[in-house]
Amino acid sequence: MTRLVGMSGSLRKGSFNTQLLRACQPLLPAGVSLEIATLHEIPLYDGDVEAQGIPPGVAKLKDLVAGADGLLISSPEYNHTMPGVLKNAIDWLSRPSEDIGRVFKGRPVALIGASPGSFGTARGQASWLPALRAVLLRPYFEHAPFYLAKADQAFDGEGGFKDPRTRELLGGFLDGFTRFVREE
Ligand code: FNR
Repeated sequence: MTRLVGMSGSLRKGSFNTQLLRACQPLLPAGVSLEIATLHEIPLYDGDVEAQGIPPGVAKLKDLVAGADGLLISSPEYNHTMPGVLKNAIDWLSRPSEDIGRVFKGRPVALIGASPGSFGTARGQASWLPALRAVLLRPYFEHAPFYLAKADQAFDGEGGFKDPRTRELLGGFLDGFTRFVREE
C-alpha cells in the first residue's frame, strides 16, 4: 500500500481545498490510500510554547507525515501567496529542526489548490517553493501543475466535478504523483 497524507490549508467546513482533497480519493490508482489530516489542533507557532515541548497536535501530525510515503498539499491562495494556517503548520512540523530529516527530508510532495478566482492558486503555489525547499521535501514537478479555478462552480455536490476534463486532469496528476512516490 502506498500511503499518502493530504493536508488542506483551510480550516473552514465548506473549504474548496478540502473538497479537492476528498475528490482525489476516488481517483487514486489501486493500492494508494489518502488520509486527510486536519490542522485544527495546530496552535500558532510560539517559541515559548516550543520551549515547553512540542504540542500534542503537532507531534501527532509529525508522526503522520513521517509515516507517509508522500504528502499531498491542497493550498488556498491568500493575497497571491500561501495561507498562514498552512505555513504555520509546516513551520511547526519543521521543529525542532533536527526532526526535519525524519519528517520531511526527501519525502515526495505534490501541490494542488482551489480558488473561486480565475487563476486557481497559480501564484500561491509558486509562493510555496522556497518553503518546500527549506524543509528538504522532494517536489513533484514532472506534471503540469493542477489548479482548480472557479472552484465555487466546479464541484457536482456528490464529491466529484461537473466538468469531466477536471477529473481527467486530476486523475493524470495523481497517477504521475503515485509513480513519482513509488520511484524511491
Ligand atoms: C482570499 N482569496 C483569494 N483567492 C485568490 O484566488 N487569490 C488571492 O490572492 C486571494 N486572496 C485572499 C485573501 C484572503 C485573506 C482570503 C480570506 C481569501 C479567496 C480564496 O481563494 C477563497 O476564500 C477560497 O475559498 C479559500 O479556500 P477554501 O477555504 O475554500 O479552501
